[in-house]
Amino acid sequence: MKTQNEMKLTFQSLSVNEGFARSAVASFISMLDPTVSEIADIKTAVSEAVTNCIVHAYRDSVGVIYIHTKILEDRRVLIKIRDRGCGIEDVEKAMEPLFTTQSENERSGLGFSVMQSFCDKVKVKSKLNKGTSVLLEKRLSQKEKIK
Ligand SMILES: Nc1ncnc2c1ncn2[C@@H]1O[C@H](COP(=O)(O)OP(=O)(O)OP(=O)(O)O)[C@@H](O)[C@H]1O
Ligand SMILES: [Mg+2]
Repeated sequence: MKTQNEMKLTFQSLSVNEGFARSAVASFISMLDPTVSEIADIKTAVSEAVTNCIVHAYRDSVGVIYIHTKILEDRRVLIKIRDRGCGIEDVEKAMEPLFTTQSENERSGLGFSVMQSFCDKVKVKSKLNKGTSVLLEKRLSQKEKIK
């Protein structure tokens, strides 16, 4: 499927940048004229993935977060959120609802479940001490043609 448009963002893993990242992605995909709920879903999923980079990947440090967003011609939106942080030992386990390595910080272990419920697909790749990439995919509804 051909790419219709794409953009890349690189920013520091500071919590102040979480709001920036989700608004930037939402603003980029506005060319597709998404519904309010589609925008809300994408913002929530991006926010969870970026927060994970900030609080887990670069837990006691500041690193770089990369976002690559593609819009495909069939109205599919692909958002890859990548870090070069600590990595995840067992991705399958990390994606289970309620699994968290930071219960002491009142994390509830629901971030990946939220991403899965608001997107059509979530693919996670990770290597210990190398980093993690989370690919979010969502197909936006077709616009009704005005007669
Ligand atoms: N980018 C990442 N780098 C390293 N570890 C990660 C990353 N993203 C997630 N994890 C690991 O996966 C676990 C589950 O993530 P998830 O987002 O589902 O829950 P959480 O972040 O612990 O809690 P919540 O999102 O509800 O605040 C985390 O506790 C963490 O151990
Ligand atoms: Mg989380």
